[in-house]
Amino acid sequence: MKIAILPGDGIGPEIISQAKRVLQTLRSDGLSLEWELGAIGGAGYESSKDPLPEDTINLTKAADAVLLGAVGGPKYDSLPRAMRPEQGLLRIRKELGLFANLRPAVVFPELASASSLKSELVEGLDLMILRELTGDIYFGQPRGRRQTESGEDEGFDTMRYSVSEIERIARVAFDIAQKRNGKLCSVDKANVLDTSILWREVVTKISEEYPTVELTHMYVDNAAMQLVREPKQFDVILTGNIFGDILSDEASMLTGSIGMLPSASMDVNRKGLFEPIHGSAPDISGKNLANPLATILSVSMMLKYTFNEVEASQRVESAVKSVLSQGFRTPDIYQAGSKRVGTQEMGDAVIEAM
Ligand code: IPM
Ligand code: MG
Repeated sequence: MKIAILPGDGIGPEIISQAKRVLQTLRSDGLSLEWELGAIGGAGYESSKDPLPEDTINLTKAADAVLLGAVGGPKYDSLPRAMRPEQGLLRIRKELGLFANLRPAVVFPELASASSLKSELVEGLDLMILRELTGDIYFGQPRGRRQTESGEDEGFDTMRYSVSEIERIARVAFDIAQKRNGKLCSVDKANVLDTSILWREVVTKISEEYPTVELTHMYVDNAAMQLVREPKQFDVILTGNIFGDILSDEASMLTGSIGMLPSASMDVNRKGLFEPIHGSAPDISGKNLANPLATILSVSMMLKYTFNEVEASQRVESAVKSVLSQGFRTPDIYQAGSKRVGTQEMGDAVIEAM
């Protein structure tokens, strides 16, 4: 099992260090894991003037899975767009064909009161957002700047999805729903957009292959509202790239602990890139304040989804649950009465629990 590890920027290297300790523990207990480090984002720009250096592309292509920290920082905000850290992320998704992005929003019982919603609305929440990641307005052509007939400048982008792109992401969604509570809500804007009308037709057609899954459709504006009104009505949400970007940030906040949530982006062969959903948090980087648990849970997802090592995956997840129930808290999830720890000490506690 070969892993490419890309620590990235900001708190990326610190949280990745703790995740590496988890991998080391699993390896010394017999899993045949190996890994190699590569640069991405601002770190790629520093080393090779490229947010996704050629070496990194080769490394990730040769690996079975990729573990990523986070990219970005104020230092790189004024660079031309092609050099910006986010481009590293967008390009690796495209290069590796990572079209299926799984973003769970799970409320850990110990942290329900950290949500900005009332505890009773979020207690027990376990929602999976499946976001299509390599199509839509993010990559549609043509795009750019042009002049209107009256000589004014305008910017434009193209929203697009082909039938085969919708079919393949829909099948992933139905598969996931089948293994969970059998409820799939497809989110679109079919009252306005042609892309969404096609999306709805294709998802409905694919649903015939999955008679045990109950499919519903919802407009994206309503979905944004329902997520804060009654989030527990959802099991799996399937949506396109841009709507998924927005709704997954909203859903993460329901859990009150963005520092706790992992994500997976997978190709057709279940090769995946695993990363915490939070960003590089430059304001707290290098201060031993970052929460490493989302990255450690990303390792757990990697073991489950790419390597099919269900037992090892559960071992890591249980260790995280155990440190929470023992009261260890990094500052982002600290509540009066719990044990305040830093990045390194949280890592110690996880290793101890394993
Ligand atoms: C995300 C991020 C990225 C996206 C950015 C950094 C390009 O917001 O992973 O959700 O928009 O996909
Ligand atoms: Mg986003």
